[in-house]
Amino acid sequence: MKVIDKVQEMQNIVNTHRKRGERIVCVPTMGYFHDGHLSLMKLAQEYGDVVIVTLFVNPTQFGPNEDFERYPRDFQRDYELASSIGVDYLFAPTVEEMYPDGYSTKIIVNKFTDKFEGLKRAGHFDGVATVVTKIFNATKPNVAIFGQKDLQQTLVVRQLVKDLLFDIDIVIAPTVRESDGLAMSSRNVYLSREEREVASQIYRALQKGLDAINKGITNRDVISSYVQKHLSKFPQLTVDYVAVVNSENFEEPAEFVPGENVAILVAVYLGKTRLIDNIITKIP
Ligand code: PAF
Repeated sequence: MKVIDKVQEMQNIVNTHRKRGERIVCVPTMGYFHDGHLSLMKLAQEYGDVVIVTLFVNPTQFGPNEDFERYPRDFQRDYELASSIGVDYLFAPTVEEMYPDGYSTKIIVNKFTDKFEGLKRAGHFDGVATVVTKIFNATKPNVAIFGQKDLQQTLVVRQLVKDLLFDIDIVIAPTVRESDGLAMSSRNVYLSREEREVASQIYRALQKGLDAINKGITNRDVISSYVQKHLSKFPQLTVDYVAVVNSENFEEPAEFVPGENVAILVAVYLGKTRLIDNIITKIP
């Protein structure tokens, strides 16, 4: 696996591969790899000939009071893990390389960004859309793979690709979970042992929502109340939001209809750590 830290060099490399007719698959990440990332990298190998993993903790998607500074980083460990999976290139630019002096462009996606993560984390999706655009221009992929855990981000990225005419197929990979159901996240490392135990209740709460749907409940507020009720049993959890939405357009009808794909979304604080998760199902 080759490590590339300059945009120009990355572009030269992908141009060469593209001239040979090879398909490029990109997995954008912020590093501190866990099995969720590794599953995206393995999946990437099924979609093309050359796999590029990008590793960049993007400052523009963090708010001023968020965890950019303390976001976990371990380049050597990430290098070894990606290399062991058979990734071809690890594109790991510096902040200066991605946002050089005088940098002054922002991409704003106006759809899907005014609620949930977009509302709670002002400017977050502008930062995501901007960096994803830059990553796409640096790595020129045919396919890019994102995880379902950041479900709202996947809608924003699809909209970005559609609106800016990127000739890139977006693949969404399922969330990888710990044995107790906790969604894998680089931020799980922030949790104390006690918080880590309680964290599994997020998935249990999502399943309560799923149970309600499987029982035939189609009312959004009622489904949501099953999730909220479970979370409220754990005083360590502070709910940021619980939402039940159409998973394809994030609309929130009062009643869902049979066959509709629904996502249950949760964001909670456990101490200072903010965790998000979701589950998608079909209304029977
Ligand atoms: O999902 C992430 O890790 C980030 O938001 C992404 C897509 C790599 C952009 O920085």
